[in-house]
Amino acid sequence: MSTHGKPKSGAAIDALELLKADHEKVKSLFLEFESLRDNDDDDERKFELVDEICYELTLHSMIEEEIFYPMLRSVIDDDDLMDEADVEHAGMRDLISQLEVMYPSDDHFDATVTVLGEEMAHHIDKEERDMFDVALDSGLDLDELGERLAARKEELDEDLTAPPTPIDAMEPHNNARRTPRPPD
Ligand SMILES: [Fe+2]
Repeated sequence: MSTHGKPKSGAAIDALELLKADHEKVKSLFLEFESLRDNDDDDERKFELVDEICYELTLHSMIEEEIFYPMLRSVIDDDDLMDEADVEHAGMRDLISQLEVMYPSDDHFDATVTVLGEEMAHHIDKEERDMFDVALDSGLDLDELGERLAARKEELDEDLTAPPTPIDAMEPHNNARRTPRPPD
């Protein structure tokens, strides 16, 4: 028997709305952590919060890296923008892997969470200010992309090791796919 997660709720969410909702969720978790930062009595809640932050960021970055980033990269001419996002995700993964073996009582636990929160705030800001504008003009079907992101997120939420479906061609509406420059 497979009920496959939560029931679908009618209106589909577009890709940028979905990613923004993820950003808001993670930002509010970091805010709650900061409100407890210097409170050593609340280690249990801190542990839960960091567990949730790491999980949410992992799911979010997986759907971006598997689907959103490669689709966008294939239709825009801005490798720097996409490369920087990749590097920021790598930095995030490094901090998450440190936190996964730490406890709130450990040295540098609070500092590691705070640095992760600061780096994510910068990353989220850049995505929403620069990358999302580019995505809006890219010709990608953001509704269809949103459905794909939501479906993959649901799949990963059930099984984080579920293999990704290869990205098939999803042609942009009005933007020519970049063609490689022939050698001189
Ligand atoms: Fe991201």
